[in-house]
Amino acid sequence: MKNYNISLIKGDGIGVEIINEAVKVLDAVAKKCNFNLEYKEYLMGGVAIDKIGHPLPKETVDGVLKSHACLFGAIGGEKWDNLPRHLRPESGLLKFREELGVFANLRPAIVYDELTNASTLKPEIIKGCDIMVVRELIGGIYFGEPKQNDGQKAFNTMVYTKEEIQRIGKTAFELAMKRDKRLCSVDKSNVLEVSQLWRSTMIELSKEYPEVKLSHMYVDNAAMQLVRNPKQFDVIVTGNIFGDILSDTASMVVGSIGLLPSASTGNKTSVYEPIHGSAPDIAGLGIANPIATIESAAMMLKYSLNEEEASNIIQEAIKDVLKDGYRTKDLASFDAKEVLSTSQMGDIIVEYINK
Ligand code: NAD
Ligand code: IPM
Ligand code: MN
Repeated sequence: MKNYNISLIKGDGIGVEIINEAVKVLDAVAKKCNFNLEYKEYLMGGVAIDKIGHPLPKETVDGVLKSHACLFGAIGGEKWDNLPRHLRPESGLLKFREELGVFANLRPAIVYDELTNASTLKPEIIKGCDIMVVRELIGGIYFGEPKQNDGQKAFNTMVYTKEEIQRIGKTAFELAMKRDKRLCSVDKSNVLEVSQLWRSTMIELSKEYPEVKLSHMYVDNAAMQLVRNPKQFDVIVTGNIFGDILSDTASMVVGSIGLLPSASTGNKTSVYEPIHGSAPDIAGLGIANPIATIESAAMMLKYSLNEEEASNIIQEAIKDVLKDGYRTKDLASFDAKEVLSTSQMGDIIVEYINK
């Protein structure tokens, strides 16, 4: 029987609750498809600060690098918000991504027919929408030097090298080739030098992909177009901070931030994580939507473990559960037949897998 080592990082807030449900679902599908998953848990974020005084233990990076793939929950919370910047949970996450070299964060936003009534946008605007946001994850203003805050003056630096832009650009063009061959590069080249280089590099790269129709959009317009007419997009490629913002926006096209998974990939290993955070406002209440994390686990099976059938079984189960009107609270005001807790949602997805 095939055996895979999975590293788990639950993190803070709802991170624990949602990872537990994803593991439940992974175990069910592994049993059904005849492979074995061995999990090892690692610390990161607030929970790591509380236990060892640092948000990113070395064992976490080493352990993840040794595993076949990593499933990640979320980190952060008010308790740790006033620590010095380098000791904050978020700094641990950024360092983690940097050390693993996961430069490409793929954030699919797909509107299932079963959920066309779940969005705050009109059904006809979103029906059939299938967007892939390709977010550069280990560069840009998140990492640029110099940066400073001396209490009187503060700054960060948005920097991209041509090589970094080419690297993420290639990922996006390759993905577009496997999809509808439309790529929209989002930047702010009317104002920012870094975006000028971004745009000219994408144009240069597009010569290697003559079949892909490359377009460009300023980020402010892109945010507006995403809610005006999301179906105009196939693949979006953009830098770190713009991708962070636009993917949260895209989640409301789908219906809830609790639905959007992601894969963070590079040359060493991959991390699968929901796009949302630790949701301190609902942590411990048992109402978080675990589907983004369960979908992330499905992406892990497909892309890192090559277990495509198992991945499809999870996705079909999720669709059927939604079709039958089961919802967590974030989607409850729409067309819910029954509102489930986080663990009930995990249970019912398992039940549908075993049907
Ligand atoms: P958030 O994504 O945690 O929450 C935003 C809103 O969405 C909240 O109202 C929350 O209740 C809701 N929400 C999020 N996930 C949900 C789910 N699965 N089901 C139902 N509702 C859900 O963003 P925030 O409130 O801006 O940040 C909270 C903390 O999380 C901060 O410390 C932030 O730094 C951190 N954060 C971490 C990650 C990560 O670990 N990758 C991502 C984003 C934010
Ligand atoms: C995300 C989060 C992180 C980011 C934060 C917590 C550092 O918002 O994963 O989208 O901005 O990348
Ligand atoms: Mn974010």
